[in-house]
Amino acid sequence: MPATVIVGGQWGDEGKAKVVDYLMPHHDVVIRFQGGANAGHTVVNDDGRFAFHQIPSGILYPHVTGILGNGMVIDPFAFLDELKVLIERGIEIDGRLFISSAAHVVMPTHRILDNLYETDIREESIGSTGKGIGPAYSDKYDRRGMRMAAFLLDKENLFNLVRIHVEQNNKFLEYFKMPPLSLKKVASDFANIKDLISHFIVDTQDIIYELKMKGKRIMLEGAQGTLLDIDHGTYPFVTSSSCCVGGALTGTGLSPKDIDRTIGIYKSYTTRVGNGPFPTELTGEVGTTLRERGKEYGTTTGRPRRCGWFDLVASKYSVRLNGFSEIALTKLDVISGLPAVKICTAYSMNGETLTRFPQELSVFHKCEPVYEELPGWGEDEIRVDSFDELPKNARRYIELLEERLGVKISFISTGPARGETIVREAAYSFDKQ
Ligand code: IMP
Repeated sequence: MPATVIVGGQWGDEGKAKVVDYLMPHHDVVIRFQGGANAGHTVVNDDGRFAFHQIPSGILYPHVTGILGNGMVIDPFAFLDELKVLIERGIEIDGRLFISSAAHVVMPTHRILDNLYETDIREESIGSTGKGIGPAYSDKYDRRGMRMAAFLLDKENLFNLVRIHVEQNNKFLEYFKMPPLSLKKVASDFANIKDLISHFIVDTQDIIYELKMKGKRIMLEGAQGTLLDIDHGTYPFVTSSSCCVGGALTGTGLSPKDIDRTIGIYKSYTTRVGNGPFPTELTGEVGTTLRERGKEYGTTTGRPRRCGWFDLVASKYSVRLNGFSEIALTKLDVISGLPAVKICTAYSMNGETLTRFPQELSVFHKCEPVYEELPGWGEDEIRVDSFDELPKNARRYIELLEERLGVKISFISTGPARGETIVREAAYSFDKQ
């Protein structure tokens, strides 16, 4: 049962869901392993556009079992809303969607605290999505969190856990002079959804093990991106989970031996939503062009994304951290038609050239991108089926990235639809199995 991991190589929004969607017919199981409702994964198929936040996007295929893994923090109310939309759109879910009993619950207090930290407590706001992700993970690691297993308890014991949580977190709210949450209201909201959600909750480590022993192929669907990883990203301007390949193990219970394919997803340029360093950011006309052509607005918050050129320094760092076996390059259409494209090959700091990704924010603030410029190619010329049919300059751009990153680019996405994907030979290994 070798598994495939899909991880974003930049600051998120690389188009991971499109690649998951494309490869899902070759897999039987899809698992989200970190994050929560902060994610926004968009799939465009024959039935239209679907936006996912907590449910793994691969669930759109009827043969697939979907799992929300133990590494996630789950907003149970938002989960039920997302589920309702899928059911209304004719997606049959019964018996093939599971939530880990060890995943943590995002409580209403977490959202309030998330927003409060952003507006009143932090020196500089991170630009959080406001979904309560940071405070939920804080409670988990502080060993005060509530696991999804709570919904499997009888009403009295569920009430008790909710009470402990609300009373504890109300102390924080009171400290910050915020009105406390009503225990009665929170407890009754939780009691109301208990029966709706409890039948999804299981020991997913066990189910994953069983599926693996049956030889089912597993897809691990990463959220956010390597540069937002809590340990390896541009801390503190990061999310609170492990977005790298390592998170796919801790967030599911799989072992390193189970993974045989790690696909890094990179946009043909770079975007970032929220605050924090972004050396290749373009604040002028080209940045606006990329934003409008790429429809670069957050799926979760609707915020405009910051846009810039492809950053090789950052991307080499994420290749190194994840050991990608191959790369999918997305949104080639967005940079097609520009007179020239640029790639950042190094940073310059006070006259010194840096080729390593800095760990210190103070260094980042002084970094200027060093660019290599390449000629552009025609917008219409990329509507082709094979790499060889792409215009010469587009091939040159892709080959240069491939050479500098040291990893084969197996997929090139030239538009949002499933069919707008160029596949190079590595991907055919699936068909041979
Ligand atoms: P949080 O995860 O909501 O706490 O947000 C922390 C940072 O990660 C902010 O800069 C967010 O904009 C960013 N972020 C969180 N989720 C995503 C995502 O799915 N795509 C891109 N950026 C994200």
